Amino acid sequence: MSVAPAIEVRGVSKTYPGVRALRSVDLALRPGEVHVLLGENGAGKSTLVKIMSGAVQPDEGQISIDGQESALATPHDAQVAGISTVYQELSLVPDLTIAQNIFLGRETVAGPAKLLRRNQMERQAREKLQLLGVDVDPTTPVRELSIAMRQVVEIIRALARDAKVLILDEPTSSLSQQETQELFARIDQIRADGVAICYISHRLEEIERIGDRVTVMRDGQVVASDLPATTPLAELVRLMVGRSIESEFPPRSVELGDPLLEVEHLTVPGSVTDVSLTVRAGEVLGIFGLVGAGRTELLRAIFGLEKASSGTTAVDGHQVQIRSPRQAIRHGLALVPEERHAQGLVLGMSVRENICLSTLDECSRLGALSKDRTAQMADAQIERLRVKVPDRDVRVAALSGGNQQKVVIARALAAGSRILLLDEPTRGVDVGAKVEIYELINKLASEGKAVVVVSSELPEILGLSDRIVVMRQGRVSVVHDREAADQETLLQAALPVGEGAA
Ligand SMILES: Nc1ncnc2c1ncn2[C@@H]1O[C@H](COP(=O)(O)OP(=O)(O)OP(=O)(O)O)[C@@H](O)[C@H]1O
Ligand SMILES: [Mg+2]
Repeated sequence: MSVAPAIEVRGVSKTYPGVRALRSVDLALRPGEVHVLLGENGAGKSTLVKIMSGAVQPDEGQISIDGQESALATPHDAQVAGISTVYQELSLVPDLTIAQNIFLGRETVAGPAKLLRRNQMERQAREKLQLLGVDVDPTTPVRELSIAMRQVVEIIRALARDAKVLILDEPTSSLSQQETQELFARIDQIRADGVAICYISHRLEEIERIGDRVTVMRDGQVVASDLPATTPLAELVRLMVGRSIESEFPPRSVELGDPLLEVEHLTVPGSVTDVSLTVRAGEVLGIFGLVGAGRTELLRAIFGLEKASSGTTAVDGHQVQIRSPRQAIRHGLALVPEERHAQGLVLGMSVRENICLSTLDECSRLGALSKDRTAQMADAQIERLRVKVPDRDVRVAALSGGNQQKVVIARALAAGSRILLLDEPTRGVDVGAKVEIYELINKLASEGKAVVVVSSELPEILGLSDRIVVMRQGRVSVVHDREAADQETLLQAALPVGEGAA
């Protein structure tokens, strides 16, 4: 009964300096099926994706397409073979418009016909955007878009190629629930059209909805293949991390201290309106809201990255002026930004340098930057967060997505800050590492730090926070103690006015 695979890899291995990213991996994607690829951060999923997309060459192994052995020497080869990929790290060109990005590399017409062609492209782009329920002008330059919107454009670009193999590497990591549901509806159609789909996600609850079969990878190897998508989650987690995870949210009881951060009547024109909040020493304050509710802008404004038109900030009971990240850091604040590539990391620098980036003052107190000191600091954080790296001097660009996220957090911790602002800290992080980050947040709180966590995931907000602020359209819509909150009430409070009532 089994249909010939649209693409099959056999015995594929890939070694990077110090890392065996893939060891003799087999995988077959069949037409009309969604094949979920699971694995911890650094398990080798994206490397496999890149090999199937012609972006990386394997050291060993074969690839066949429709039963024919093929060498995918370049991404262009893969494209010609009908393979379309949404990469984990977005690959849009910021200076081009949405429409230009969607049709990039497929523009065939030059000369006078070009203008006509452009109008046509824009119309098509608009139609395709609407298929995912997004209403945005296709002539907008990509650089003006939020990450969520960039991810949507990236997905649409891949879908627009009418591929026979569609590979999606964490497509929903920045999407709202609604956008995710729209994407799933599209995937259902594409699957029905007989496309072979490979789907990667750390949101395990998505598997049953979207998957047909599941392959689990660990440390570069396949540890279980072709499991049904109905396999119990606990079993999949055990296969992924090699142990079972009992309670995802470790219990915590911390004596709350005095207010460490007090923000009053903060307004950022266009995104945040009259927001006040207080976080005490030892407290974890969760901020929930839908994408676009103003949460990221709020954190950025507190950290001096966004210009507020009014509002005051007090640290430790004293009014402070924070007009730049430098001042914020001096007052003991740290920000873990949502977009690790644009704001969080310097990809060309080493893990060590990135971790020590905001502490360069401290490390270079005696003039020259002390290598010993930064090495010590980096090693401490690498161990604390269990960042998977061959060594501290490897370039950040060589780390898996989830491990890059850990480096961003490590840097905030290395700065010795007392007030931590974390924007979607577990985005793209595997279940095991998520629990480690939760434990770490608890530990920081128990050391008397104040922690603010922005998250779009309700279980995470409910599991972590002492108090929860819900934002809606730039304002605080409600503040709950953990005990008084449940998924239903939080979601209601987050929905735009008018849509809340059932
Ligand atoms: N260009 C590279 N140079 C060196 N090492 C690399 C490179 N790309 C990946 N690696 C290493 O290969 C291993 C597998 O990485 P990969 O990105 O495939 O993991 P992943 O399963 O996609 O993880 P994540 O869930 O975090 O995205 C990791 O240890 C990573 O550090
Ligand atoms: Mg990856």
